[in-house]
Amino acid sequence: MNKKAIITSALPYANGEIHLGHVASTYLPADVTTRFLKLNGVEAYYVCASDDFGTPILIQSEKEGKTPTEYVAYWNKRDYEDFSAFNIDFDYFYKTSSSENIAFVQDVFKKLNDSGHIYEKEIIQFYCNNDKKFLPDRYVKGICPYCKAEDQYSDLCESCGRVPDEITDPKCSLCGEPPTKEKTTHYFFRLTNFGDSLSKWLDENDHLQKDVKKYVQNWIKSGLIDWDITRDISWGVPVPLSGANDKVFYGWFDNHLAYISTALKFLADKGIDGKSFWNSADIYHFIGKDIVYHHYLFLPAMRLGINSEYKLPDYIPTRGHLTLQGKKISKSRNWYIGLKQFLEYYPADYLRFYLVSINPYSQDDLNFDWDDFATRINSELIGNLGNFVNRALGFTKKSFDGKVPETTSFDEKDLEAEGKIKNLSNEVGSLLEQNHLDRALKKIMEFSSFFNQYFQHKEPWKLSPGTTNCVFLSVNAARSMAITLFPFLPESSQKIWIQLGLDGNVKDSSWSGASELKILSGHVLGDSFPLFTKVEITDIEKHKKNLGPSK
Ligand code: MF3
Ligand code: ZN
Repeated sequence: MNKKAIITSALPYANGEIHLGHVASTYLPADVTTRFLKLNGVEAYYVCASDDFGTPILIQSEKEGKTPTEYVAYWNKRDYEDFSAFNIDFDYFYKTSSSENIAFVQDVFKKLNDSGHIYEKEIIQFYCNNDKKFLPDRYVKGICPYCKAEDQYSDLCESCGRVPDEITDPKCSLCGEPPTKEKTTHYFFRLTNFGDSLSKWLDENDHLQKDVKKYVQNWIKSGLIDWDITRDISWGVPVPLSGANDKVFYGWFDNHLAYISTALKFLADKGIDGKSFWNSADIYHFIGKDIVYHHYLFLPAMRLGINSEYKLPDYIPTRGHLTLQGKKISKSRNWYIGLKQFLEYYPADYLRFYLVSINPYSQDDLNFDWDDFATRINSELIGNLGNFVNRALGFTKKSFDGKVPETTSFDEKDLEAEGKIKNLSNEVGSLLEQNHLDRALKKIMEFSSFFNQYFQHKEPWKLSPGTTNCVFLSVNAARSMAITLFPFLPESSQKIWIQLGLDGNVKDSSWSGASELKILSGHVLGDSFPLFTKVEITDIEKHKKNLGPSK
């Protein structure tokens, strides 16, 4: 395992609150992975930033009578607070509008320009005579020329994931009128220069998901198109060329560069040489499948264009979208749950447990279902895991005064249980290394249910000879669970740690130490208390009724 890593997750637009869809596909998987790497002694840093620029943000700030700077400052702070409440533990959370990112983006542009990867071209741009504005990207909707899906943005078809060359039957999304066309000069990035090198990079990188690689390779084969990287608006990174003072970069030119500029800023503040750290670390960019095009083509091409001064990503874990009760999430139709709101109902660990459980390492969509949530929390998290910890520790408290008893020679069942502890860190760890977070969590749940059965089978309450082994091993199993659960359930695993009467923080443990029997006979446990409270079905019914049009 590489002993250095930088982890990022898709930067949230500073334009509205974080909801369950965001955290399911990117922030939570990235957070779990970072915590796991840190337990393995990896110098891992999870950096993120708010994505501040672009037309939608400019227009929304105007609507609210704020400057764009004030507007994005509000969302930057609010997003960070919501993430923190969910225990998404960024090492650094910054912004794409930082002076560091602006300087970095301008510098990258100059290097691309010097190497011949940029050209100027007069284009015809949609213009709304009604709104007196050029209408970039999101402000024009129409029919996707590739898959013919209706009502798609001109810069991204959400149905087929492609970026249309020219949208069919365009309409101004502000007023619905068909826009006119006006001349303006834009800058273009020669993405067409990079077809072969991108294809080679995709081929050689074994860590990327095979199915994603395959369709990206098909995009390359069917022909790349150069990429318009400037906009005629006032909110963005200014193009650093004389004569282009009224132009800014398109948000997708500058935003992913903030992965690098934010990491560099954070590392510099720590006194670490950022460039050499970046180039010797494993680089992870966690994303949702809607931004594959940008992360598998634009981003690597731009890095290749500056001679890989900053290495290309090693991992781009890409996951599907979250649906809610089987339907697409939509704020306007109130088919939506904000992260902040959810955390007013239930602890962060409930949501973390549920979202990891239903989230495979694939492009398949996943579904948040309130009944399924209640079942999984009540029967798996509480019925299996909470029950085991309570039982094992409560029994030791009651029957042995909280003191872990002496052992005698192990019988076959004890040896099997001991073997489970010894294998746990490897079994769960190798799944986590392969990004199978859901399967890794499932392994821990299987471990827990094995120990529930073992405890039941041994009937230690009968206090017959040999049953102290069961108590000793069960207490150690609870410790193993606390460590391996930490990436998934940081609060609950710390509670188990405290109940075990162990010093310090579970987060300072070592991953492989989860397979050692560190709790010895004579050790005194802390106080026992229930880890979880049940999810009430009456509440679930209320949550379900809160969705959709108000009745
Ligand atoms: N803000 C973009 C989105 O939500 C994601 C940007 S990821 C970036 O789709 F790194 F490329 F910035
Ligand atoms: Zn209009």
